[in-house]
Amino acid sequence: MVHVNIFDTTLRDGEQSPGVNLNQLEKLEIARQLERFGVDIMEAGFPASSQGDFEAVRAIARTIKNSSVTGLARAIKSDIDIAWDALKDAAEPRLHVFIATSPIHMQYKLMKTPEQVVQTAVDMVSYAKQKFTHVEWSAEDASRSDLDFLVQIITKVIDAGATVINLPDTVGYTTPEEYGRMFRYIRENVPNIHKAALSCHCHDDLGMAVANSLAAIENGVTQVEGTINGIGERAGNASLEEIAVALNIRKDRYPYTTNLVLKEIKRTSDLVSRFTGMKVPGNKAVVGKNAFAHESGIHQDGVLKNALTYEIITPEMVGVQSNDLVLGKHSGRHAFKDKIEQMGFELSAEKLNEAFTTFKQLTDRKKEVTDEDLFTILIDIQTAAVDVKKYELVAFQVQYGSANLPTATVALTTPDGERVETARTGSGSVEALYNTLEALIKERIHLTDFTLSSVGSGRDALAEVHVKMSVNDTNVSGRGSSQDVLEASAKAFINAVNRVFFNQTIAVKEPVL
Ligand code: KIV
Ligand code: ZN
Repeated sequence: MVHVNIFDTTLRDGEQSPGVNLNQLEKLEIARQLERFGVDIMEAGFPASSQGDFEAVRAIARTIKNSSVTGLARAIKSDIDIAWDALKDAAEPRLHVFIATSPIHMQYKLMKTPEQVVQTAVDMVSYAKQKFTHVEWSAEDASRSDLDFLVQIITKVIDAGATVINLPDTVGYTTPEEYGRMFRYIRENVPNIHKAALSCHCHDDLGMAVANSLAAIENGVTQVEGTINGIGERAGNASLEEIAVALNIRKDRYPYTTNLVLKEIKRTSDLVSRFTGMKVPGNKAVVGKNAFAHESGIHQDGVLKNALTYEIITPEMVGVQSNDLVLGKHSGRHAFKDKIEQMGFELSAEKLNEAFTTFKQLTDRKKEVTDEDLFTILIDIQTAAVDVKKYELVAFQVQYGSANLPTATVALTTPDGERVETARTGSGSVEALYNTLEALIKERIHLTDFTLSSVGSGRDALAEVHVKMSVNDTNVSGRGSSQDVLEASAKAFINAVNRVFFNQTIAVKEPVL
């Protein structure tokens, strides 16, 4: 069996999904979960791209011990310097430096000749090697690059010290046969290829990212890159959970091992979906809600007689549990603490108290508190920023009826601790509420998206709202949950605004370089 390293880029390429904007605490929570999932390498961000990314990569590098942490850099010295500063405290610091190699990218984007691109790649890999032991070099748009040019540049960057050669299908253009052939050609023609590992990185524009990744593995790649739930630029990246399960279920076809813990798939997928606001479609392979549902009578009958008739993956294999009643009104603190630890949460004493109080309040209002409800409460508490100036909701009231103009009254405390209160109308109850919040919050706000969903089923289910907005020309997203849809809406709005303050506060505390 050949071992394949799993390189997760949810926090970098995944975070490049339109409208996704994670704060440092959310990124840390995802990073901890990726470590439990067993990824070998996690790309924590692009440190030179913003202060927020720098801080998040540094925090992850300092926290994660059982996966190697890497960060992206363009082939520019200052990017490499900033990445080193963010990554130097990691258990195994690693750099991912890239430059485009396709004719169209070199000519129109980089405006460099192929010779200049080779020189820049070699110079930057050599420069990176002065700091990092592990340097991955990527040929952006490799699948549309000339094969003999790839052979030439790869030979030189390996001589310069690159330890991993990644050949991305940047625009999701290739096919399995073609992508596999490219790796075979590189293995057969690059004289020093034995000194580096080969890596694949696929995008899903034509829906072939997973198939292309598997073809690459069959052609000698020993590192596969992808994201959880397949999130990422445009149509997204190869979905790591799909690759992991395909390798496992079809061991007969794919004699490869990974370090992944398949039972962690569901939790990892849930966390990424909740934090990013990118819902997993019901029919998504491996993690969709319907992946294990059997609707037709013939299928149900078959599954009852022998599950293998229609079920090739068991829910247990990927950590899907039935959504049983978990804890009730009379559950004590001890049972609560045990339960949340089983669910993978490690809370400080202060946050544990807050979670227990919120749980107790919920048991007064909701007949059954499910795992999904607890998960929603806990991710909010776990990632709530403390010691940061922010807007806080004090109280609100909305008057609404089919015959009158909806009116909202809201009281808030501002980041300076002042209490403010006002009222506004709107054409609907949410609009009235948002008009009022906008009047109280002295920032330039433009709401671009609003989605409301229920957590689990039942008329007393928790509501979860995700919003996207620009605040003072910065794009942010926000999340809020409550049993009441208006309260969830208000929380999501305020959560989005506070992200701007959170980023500003950490930026003031710790400047880049
Ligand atoms: O898709 C791509 O080419 C990338 C590179 C930066 C590796 O994400
Ligand atoms: Zn990519």
